Amino acid sequence: MLKYVDVEGDALKKVTRPKREGFSSSIGVIAAVLGSAVGLGNIWKFPYVTGANGGAAFILVYLLCLALVGLPVMLSEHLIGRHTKANAVGAFKALQPRRPWFLVGGAGVLSAYLIMVYYTTVAGWVYAYVFKAAGGALLSVKPEDTSLVFNALVSGVGEPLFWQVFVLLVTGTIIMAGVTKGIERVTKVLMPLLFILLLIIDIRSLMLPGAGEGLSFLFKPDFSKITVGVILAALGLAFFKLSVGMGAMITYGSYVDKNENLPKMAIKVALADTLVSLMAGIAIFPAVFAFGFKPDAGAKLLFIIIPAVFNSMPFGRVFMVLFFLLTAVAATGAMLSLLEVIIAYLTEQYQWTRRKATLLTILAIGSLGSTATLSNSIFAKATMFGKTFFDFYDFTTTNILLPVGGIFIALFVGWQWGYANVKREMSNEGRLKNDVLVRVFMFFVKFIVPVAITLVLLAGLGLDKRILSFFS
Ligand code: TRP
Repeated sequence: MLKYVDVEGDALKKVTRPKREGFSSSIGVIAAVLGSAVGLGNIWKFPYVTGANGGAAFILVYLLCLALVGLPVMLSEHLIGRHTKANAVGAFKALQPRRPWFLVGGAGVLSAYLIMVYYTTVAGWVYAYVFKAAGGALLSVKPEDTSLVFNALVSGVGEPLFWQVFVLLVTGTIIMAGVTKGIERVTKVLMPLLFILLLIIDIRSLMLPGAGEGLSFLFKPDFSKITVGVILAALGLAFFKLSVGMGAMITYGSYVDKNENLPKMAIKVALADTLVSLMAGIAIFPAVFAFGFKPDAGAKLLFIIIPAVFNSMPFGRVFMVLFFLLTAVAATGAMLSLLEVIIAYLTEQYQWTRRKATLLTILAIGSLGSTATLSNSIFAKATMFGKTFFDFYDFTTTNILLPVGGIFIALFVGWQWGYANVKREMSNEGRLKNDVLVRVFMFFVKFIVPVAITLVLLAGLGLDKRILSFFS
């Protein structure tokens, strides 16, 4: 209902707003896209993957992957999405009905599913931590104690499963209600709050005796640590962080207004996302070294170190509850974008109702998701290609499906859709004068992106040697 408002500008805005639901302001768009990008990837994954791969040198490689590969793929997705106003599969079908490019979108929907399968496990731990922190279960400055709490949680059966189901119900409810606007409005307030809290922990962490060692780990590169495996990890993380390579950004791009400056937006999002990741690193590594811990503790790094840091400061418990709460919010915002890829696909391609699509999808995620959640207990010994279920879903999506998706999205935009179309969409029908940028972008998506990803993938998976030995 259009309400009568006496401020003329407001009334005007309401009347001229387009019918199809979309993001209404530039700030809203940034908040939503950033809401997808910022998540467990920044606060949980970035620090532990950086820790496991040697620190500063890894970060440099990561930044290169982000700028040279991740950013062009993000822009490609936004261009396709905004132009077609369709889901990941529908977008390819609209642009090229006669060739099987829609399979790229299909692989994207599958990736969204497989990421959700283990993302909900970790989000469950975070939700659980909100309550543990509030209830006083995490009140120790000794990482030895906080690690007991964490290990008890993840090696349980009922407790982590309960939290995973809880996460799915929360996320499903929001998606089903279709309150993208609600979550958008909420994240617009909570994201800055997360930022401020991170800043406070950063300051506290930097004041710990021995913090310098953590800083040099983060910022002083040791290039002897770089191997092809490390480069593959950096590439995968760049995709995962920016939510690209599987159509989430096609889906979100489809809600973006035609006057938005897409290249500018992609750059802003990538910068803001990187800032949050680095701040999470500064929160964690000085503390890791100050407490005499090893930086390569893996997936549990966040859950053990952060509580110990909080407990060594005044009002630590309050801050700790807030911190995990906001991490839960960030994770939920990211999950909405993952879920939306599947829901948009099912509702637009098969005319399922939003309700049916959401219920069946979270049921499917929960079913397979339990194998990820139980991979520290019942399935601790079960492996696929030498990895636990959890690690298998993580590795195949992050390090294989997303980069491969990126190759095809770039090839599609560069060689199939082509220069003239890209120029029209990227310049907003010629209203933006950015022809040089369009040309540079085309060069990237045609050559740099596909070649770079292919080389990293082949080398990272050890396939290069097998191929060479086949020919010799
Ligand atoms: N970028 C999010 C994070 O850092 C995760 C995420 C959301 C994602 N949507 C995605 C990853 C789509 C890959 C693809 O936590």
